[in-house]
Amino acid sequence: MSKVHVLDHPLIQHKLTFIRDENTGVKEFREMVDEVALLMTYEVTRDLSLQEVEINTPICKTKSKVLAGKKIGVVPILRAGLGMVDGITSLIPSAKVGHIGLYRDPETLEPVEYYCKLPTDIHERDLIITDPMLATGGSASAAISFLKQRGAKHIKLMCLIAAPEGIERVQKDHDDVDIYVAAVDEKLNEHGYIVPGLGDAGDRLFGTK
Ligand code: PRP
Ligand code: URA
Repeated sequence: MSKVHVLDHPLIQHKLTFIRDENTGVKEFREMVDEVALLMTYEVTRDLSLQEVEINTPICKTKSKVLAGKKIGVVPILRAGLGMVDGITSLIPSAKVGHIGLYRDPETLEPVEYYCKLPTDIHERDLIITDPMLATGGSASAAISFLKQRGAKHIKLMCLIAAPEGIERVQKDHDDVDIYVAAVDEKLNEHGYIVPGLGDAGDRLFGTK
């Protein structure tokens, strides 16, 4: 069974409150999503391997640790996942970024793919899929399947808010994928929106409604 990591650090919870608030405008919404993604990156990358190198401090020679150079890939689910990319790449500038375009059909709630462009070496990379919302889990599960079909082996899913239904779906379909969230909310409403949630993440990020 994959693990669910709820990253309830006070700074993350504080910023998430502003993200949820309907009075938060596009500029602040974007900034907060970016900041929370950056803060979440600390935990999502906690298991990165290190190697020892020898350096000279002004005082003496010593051994110290650096990242072992494992290749990372970030894969936002378009559109809303884009809002979490910069927070990650500001900490991991060498990460490559792939894109998967999916939208959720408002009638069936099933994901429809419209774009996919990935780094050629995704099979060698530790991939972090980003999407602020894990609602029914259909989009995330489909994105993980696309990546696996194209050779991905190590995938983590990073979301801001999840519904219990979405977590269950991803765990059922992909028991090898750990899920990182800032909050697990109560339920989905009859339109498939997370309650209490934050509304439509894509529209709030890009000001389209
Ligand atoms: C939203 C969200 C997820 C998806 C979650 O995207 O960003 O991708 O819905 O729902 P699910 O778990 O039930 O699949 P949306 O389809 O609204 O597209 P957008 O990002 O382009 O706005
Ligand atoms: N997509 C969103 O943007 N918000 C939700 O609550 C559910 C799906």
